[in-house]
Amino acid sequence: MTEPLYQADASRYDAMPYRRAGRSGVLLPAFSLGMWHNFGSEAPFSNAQRMAHYAFDHGIVHFDLANNYGPVYGSAEENFGRLMERSFRPYRDELFISTKAGYDMWPGPYGNWGSRKYLTASLDQSLRRMKLDYVDVFYTHRYDPETPLEETLQALVDLVRQGKTFYVGISRYPLEAARFAFRYLAERDVPCLLFQDKYNLFNREPETSGVLPLAAEAGSGFVAFSPLAQGLLTNRYLNGIPEGSRMSRNGFLRKEVLTDEMLSRIRGLDRLAQRRGQTLAEMALAWLLRDERVTSVIIGASSVEQIADNLHALQHPDFSDEELAEIAKYS
Ligand SMILES: NC(=O)c1ccc[n+]([C@@H]2O[C@H](COP(=O)([O-])OP(=O)(O)OC[C@H]3O[C@@H](n4cnc5c(N)ncnc54)[C@H](OP(=O)(O)O)[C@@H]3O)[C@@H](O)[C@H]2O)c1
Repeated sequence: MTEPLYQADASRYDAMPYRRAGRSGVLLPAFSLGMWHNFGSEAPFSNAQRMAHYAFDHGIVHFDLANNYGPVYGSAEENFGRLMERSFRPYRDELFISTKAGYDMWPGPYGNWGSRKYLTASLDQSLRRMKLDYVDVFYTHRYDPETPLEETLQALVDLVRQGKTFYVGISRYPLEAARFAFRYLAERDVPCLLFQDKYNLFNREPETSGVLPLAAEAGSGFVAFSPLAQGLLTNRYLNGIPEGSRMSRNGFLRKEVLTDEMLSRIRGLDRLAQRRGQTLAEMALAWLLRDERVTSVIIGASSVEQIADNLHALQHPDFSDEELAEIAKYS
């Protein structure tokens, strides 16, 4: 039997707010969907497809990938390529797709870090896997202390000139390297579109390190990843570690983080969320969006229900001073 063709929901732009990425022409949805987990070859494709369709049907037009998302490496991009062929091809110009290179991808000296050789070959591979002619933004996934930063950044500039990516971004760069990158890219008329960093109620480093204000000053947008601290900032672990959860796999989210102290912080935040009439996930996401410098919040999800819950965050965006003070006690 042939599968029914996907038809995007006609009301997909009705509810999602779009926010400008720094001083650029690009608007991104308040929520983007990341494909780090649950989109690789070891996850059921039917669920990945349901989540991608649901997201797009609700105005989430930005999908965030990287060369090594899986597991296995490359398989999230391959599955995205399947989605392009089956569902999204007619909507390519409505989509904003990112990928990255910077971490371990293939064996030997050219499959990691920040050389021109690695970034260029990796983007070519990503385009083939995703069945795309270009991506919308290509990131250097992390700062490489061994490679001259000029080499990494010039590779990005050249990939724009070659038409393989429209925009460029940097992810997880330390403050001084980020400052250098913003200047270098702007001087070559390829301004940095997005700075991507981990930002959530339990990790406020972008504020304290100064990269959040720096990105804003430099005219770059800022996207927050792991906004729910990989699931800690939800009701997922309030009553133990559910089978199939990210923590149950004990990989990127280790069981050791769920100490009594951590549980009491989560419970405190959960009580506040309930008083606000929200789930903890909704409150944690609304808290990030209250800062206008945050262009988009990249959520991860393992089900359509989680995406639906997270979108409710948009319905109660405001915080009183008392609520912010209470949040500060737990974060
Ligand atoms: N640039 C970088 O270096 C970098 C690094 C990390 C991530 N990222 C990007 O950021 C994206 C998001 O990261 P993340 O997956 O860590 O984000 P996250 O939103 O902090 O965590 C997502 C996980 O939280 C749980 N969850 C989500 N919504 C929930 C809800 N409403 N109720 C209960 N549980 C919920 C799910 O866990 P279960 O799976 O247990 O259900 C889900 O997989 C990634 O996909 C990637 O695109 C970038």
